Amino acid sequence: MKQQVKQELTRKVFIKTYGCQMNVYDSERMGDVLAGEGYATTQDQAEADLVILNTCHIRERAAEKVFSEVGKIVKANRLSQGKQARIAVAGCVAQAEGAEIIKRAPGVDMVFGPQSYHRLPELLARADRGEKAIIDTEFPAAEKFAKLPDAAKPQGLAPVSAFLTVQEGCDKFCSFCVVPYTRGAEYSRAITDIERELEKLIQRGVREVTLLGQNVNAWAGQGPDGRIWSFAELLERLSTHADLARLRYTTSHPRDMNEALIRAHAENDKLMPYLHLPVQSGSDRVLAAMNRQHTAQSYIDLIASIRQARPDIAISGDFIVGYPGETEAEFEQTLKLVEEVRYAAAYSFAYSPRPGTPAATKTDQVSEAVKKARLHKLQALLSQQMQEFNRNCVGRVLPVLLEKPGRNAGQLIGRSPYLQSVHLQADPALLGQIVPVHIEAVGPNSLSGHYEASDSTPIHGGHRI
Ligand code: SAH
Ligand code: SF4
Ligand code: F3S
Repeated sequence: MKQQVKQELTRKVFIKTYGCQMNVYDSERMGDVLAGEGYATTQDQAEADLVILNTCHIRERAAEKVFSEVGKIVKANRLSQGKQARIAVAGCVAQAEGAEIIKRAPGVDMVFGPQSYHRLPELLARADRGEKAIIDTEFPAAEKFAKLPDAAKPQGLAPVSAFLTVQEGCDKFCSFCVVPYTRGAEYSRAITDIERELEKLIQRGVREVTLLGQNVNAWAGQGPDGRIWSFAELLERLSTHADLARLRYTTSHPRDMNEALIRAHAENDKLMPYLHLPVQSGSDRVLAAMNRQHTAQSYIDLIASIRQARPDIAISGDFIVGYPGETEAEFEQTLKLVEEVRYAAAYSFAYSPRPGTPAATKTDQVSEAVKKARLHKLQALLSQQMQEFNRNCVGRVLPVLLEKPGRNAGQLIGRSPYLQSVHLQADPALLGQIVPVHIEAVGPNSLSGHYEASDSTPIHGGHRI
């Protein structure tokens, strides 16, 4: 199964992806598996023979969106004189609510969880034989990674940057979160598998790789010598691949940020100065109730030592407001933590009770109005900090990896080391290269600047040499 069967692509699949980067990566892998079954991927749902919704279960509205999407496809099928698209629900909602989906949406042909993607050919064959309402939500991740084709092409629109899943699953069981139930126990891929996939990406022109995992820094996998290696060792090893210019990783848990990993941020030139490190709350009582296993102060101290290693690092975070029982004073502590840390980017959410998680059964739920007001206040502060971080880049020369053409004529879009999108005028022949860009202005979600061909000092990773 590893080698794709070369056959004519006679049918079409449309894959709609919700949720996190791992779903983006998984959708590509599903596309690769289906290519071996004669399916070409299409961006036009109307011409698809198979529609796969790759779903997310992290918050309430995510699941609701899926049900409404299924309803729309069922309706389109009913109205269509000709083509009937088969409907598949994959991803985390499928894993968590497989039976419920089949019950609530009888038009769905098959439901399968994140650990079943390598079994897609078998599931499709069963559907072809006329079997209805197929459910496959088995677990072990090792089997999936062994049988799925490697990522052979970069995901999304930017062919020079790609995701590579190295770790999946979570053993942390934060009391609000569904991920341990939808993705299963922590599993780390072996280094030889990761390097084989990395080599293929590099051959396709990828210069920047983002290593993915639900708790990526908890990665502990088999090294080429048979010993279990640490995440810091994995980063060091991957950065020896000469044609790889930049490395990133996400998402990390504060508990797994060890000394060696912090040192890597000081020593490894290819490791970009950006770290997404969710904290969720600034109140120790709330953090304990969430089972985060760290305190506000231990997080602040951690950030301080990371900044000592790499002073310019951009810190990003995740926050939840309105966890059951959160008081106004406890919420204020979150604002205080934010003031202290100063974030370059952040994602913040109103707490959403998830069925099957311990926090959902708590009787002291916070009202929607209060959650909304707190979220508003937190987001105002975070967005102020983000703008400040961006403004501080004006006047600097940043090494920018040129990723894709922009919307305007002659415009290219690239990424700074801090993950900011940078717009500039430059020759499209430079796509895939890292060039020094003089940052001149800040837009709502991006920076803009100019590049002079005379500046063409070669740049490796994030640093000028
Ligand atoms: N593995 C990562 C994050 C996974 S989910 C980590 O441990 O940090 C991404 C983010 O969604 C979380 O960090 C959290 O902020 C948010 N989230 C998860 N469950 C949630 C819930 N029930 N309600 C609101 N936000 C939630
Ligand atoms: Fe969810 Fe917590 Fe695991 Fe992150 S560490 S995936 S928030 S349970
Ligand atoms: Fe969503 Fe599953 Fe990712 S719940 S955030 S798609 S791990």
